[in-house]
Amino acid sequence: MRRRVAVITGGNAGIGRAAARQLLERGWEVVVASRREEAGAEVVAALRGYGPVSYVRLDLARFDSVRACAGEVVARWPRVDALINNAGTVRSRRELSADGFELTLQTNHLGHFLMTHLLRGRCWRRRQTGMAWRGW
Ligand SMILES: NC(=O)c1ccc[n+]([C@@H]2O[C@H](COP(=O)([O-])OP(=O)(O)OC[C@H]3O[C@@H](n4cnc5c(N)ncnc54)[C@H](OP(=O)(O)O)[C@@H]3O)[C@@H](O)[C@H]2O)c1
Repeated sequence: MRRRVAVITGGNAGIGRAAARQLLERGWEVVVASRREEAGAEVVAALRGYGPVSYVRLDLARFDSVRACAGEVVARWPRVDALINNAGTVRSRRELSADGFELTLQTNHLGHFLMTHLLRGRCWRRRQTGMAWRGW
C-alpha cells in the first residue's frame, strides 16, 4: 500500500519536528519544509531511522520561495495527503518582507495561504477518490 505523504512547514524544530516523528512512526512519509537548509539536513539525518523523510527549502516570508517549494513538492510527490501549516514566528518590531507585507503576517498567514492554494489540487485529488481523509 502507498505510504501517505505529509508536508510539514517548520518540521525541523519544536512542535513540527515532534509531529514529523510521530507521523513517521505511524507509517507516513514526511516532507519537512523550512527555511534553514542545515537544520533541514540535520532533521533528515536524525529522523531517517523512523521512516522516509525529506527536506525541501521554504521561506514563508518570500512568495517566490513558497512558489518554488510548492513546485518542487508537486514535481517530486504525485500526491500529498496532508499539509501541516505549522511554521511560525513573532517579530518584536515591525519589519516588511521583500514582498512589502509585515513579516509576521506574511510568514504565519499569507505564505501558508499561498502554499495551501498551490498544493490544494494534490490533496483534492485524494479526497475525490473517496479514500479516507481522516484517522491519522
Ligand atoms: N510552542 C508553543 O507554546 C506555541 C503556542 C502557540 C502556538 N504555537 C505555534 O505553533 C507553531 C510551532 O511552534 P514551535 O514552538 O514549535 O516553534 P519553533 O520551535 O520556534 O519553530 C518554528 C519553526 O518555524 C520555522 N519558520 C520560521 N520562520 C519561517 C519562515 N519564514 N519560513 C519557513 N519556516 C519558518 C522554523 O524554521 P527554521 O528553523 O528553518 O527557521 C521552525 O522550524 C508556530 O506557528 C507557533 O506560533 C506554538
